Amino acid sequence: MAPVIKMTKDIVLALLKKTPGYFSGEEMSRALGVSRSAVHAAVEALRKDGYQIDSATNRGYRLNGSPGTLNAGEILGWLPEGRGRVVFLDTVDSTNSYLSRNPDVPDGTAVVAAQQTGGRGRLGRTFLSPRDSGLYFSMLMRPDSPPADLVNITAWVAVAACDAVEAVCGVRPGIKWINDLVLKGRKICGILNELSIEAESGRTRYLVAGIGINANQRQADFPNELQNTATSVFAATGKAVDRGRLAGALINRLDLLASDWPHEKAAYLKAYRRDCVTVGKEIRILQNGCDTSAFAEGIDGDFGLIVRYSDGRRDVLRSGEVSLRGMDGYI
Ligand code: BTN
Repeated sequence: MAPVIKMTKDIVLALLKKTPGYFSGEEMSRALGVSRSAVHAAVEALRKDGYQIDSATNRGYRLNGSPGTLNAGEILGWLPEGRGRVVFLDTVDSTNSYLSRNPDVPDGTAVVAAQQTGGRGRLGRTFLSPRDSGLYFSMLMRPDSPPADLVNITAWVAVAACDAVEAVCGVRPGIKWINDLVLKGRKICGILNELSIEAESGRTRYLVAGIGINANQRQADFPNELQNTATSVFAATGKAVDRGRLAGALINRLDLLASDWPHEKAAYLKAYRRDCVTVGKEIRILQNGCDTSAFAEGIDGDFGLIVRYSDGRRDVLRSGEVSLRGMDGYI
């Protein structure tokens, strides 16, 4: 489909989603700056995709039912008028990699994919990204801070993702330090933030915040080796997730984060300390090939994990991996 027709279709869907009653075809053509027949063609294309759209003379169009698929219109319908900057891809290797290959997109551009063929996790791991059940999301931001100051932003993104999940799914995940979201002792979301630094000046070029959420998988969909450590929002709550709405909530919440950064640190720290499920637990620290036991005592003023070893020594972890005992073993 030609990009202009596709864009019209996405915006028509977004307008219909935002309107509880009828939206007149004439007003729609004015709002979009396209002809009435282009609006009509977009409505027909949406009907072909499985949308139930009622049309009534002198009243216009009304959305009566959706097929439950994810597309750009489903996301734009939850964003403020004119927000835009959403790229929806049917298949991509990795939404983070897509943005790294297209670093000149406008600040705040969000990329969502129906599936990833090479979803990436921290420390070179893969992130399973099956078609149509999870949410694979990345946003490019250009924070005006030196790279060293951006170490904390990873914890801020975890707080923002918790807020978005809570707003849409009605349940607040916990945060496993430093930025995995968990429900019922199992991981539902992983976050991979990647920073690009200008080699000559050492300045920040951009940050890609990558968020993968297990949304609608059934527990049996996870491979055996992840059965004890991973779950989805659906498997944990019994409620299906509207992924378009969740993507919209992530964009709105990350837009807020971008305007909060860096002044609102105290509020993010307070939320992080409240949500962090690692504190108060026996943990295992995996660093430089060593696996050490410790007790997690708290979160310091820079989102570091304060730990106490069995010999009484204390330390603050700034990065790295920790495991804690979940419902069915270490996660
Ligand atoms: C982790 O758990 O180690 C982090 C996983 C991050 C996965 C997300 S999915 C969207 C974005 N694209 C990627 O390739 N990775 C992130």
